[in-house]
Amino acid sequence: MLAVQLLVPACLLLAGGSVSQAGDVKAGRAKAMMCQACHGLDGLSKTPDAPNIAGQIEPYLVTQLQAFKTGARKSDAMSVVAPSLSDKDIEDLAAYFAAIEISVGKLPGQ
Ligand code: HEC
Repeated sequence: MLAVQLLVPACLLLAGGSVSQAGDVKAGRAKAMMCQACHGLDGLSKTPDAPNIAGQIEPYLVTQLQAFKTGARKSDAMSVVAPSLSDKDIEDLAAYFAAIEISVGKLPGQ
């Protein structure tokens, strides 16, 4: 029984490691202090013009942050923050915001 209890988390860790990018969630949380005024540390928007990014798909977050960094995607707010982010910062931030658990309630309009 003990072996099973030890084995299961080990498998989950291995499986997680193989599908996720190189991002470090814990490091990403620390770096997310740069983002909290607009996106919240919880990834839920704190201003009317910033989108929610909690639970967003990790590769999408990486792509958008890279696009803000290179200028391929333009935004007055993000163009101030993104150029200073390294590739590792982007991976860590994407891993952190993607790892925030979100749940969807009742769908409206029914
Ligand atoms: C000054 C406010 C501000 C700060 C600070 C800020 N953002 Fe943003 N962010 C915005 C706004 C506004 C947008 C919407 C840009 C647009 O209209 O295209 C945005 C867009 C984004 C998007 C695209 C989301 C989507 O749905 O396409 C990502 C990802 C993102 N921000 C991540 C971050 C991260 C990570 C940080 C911290 C390193 C950060 N932002 C810091 C205001 C901010």
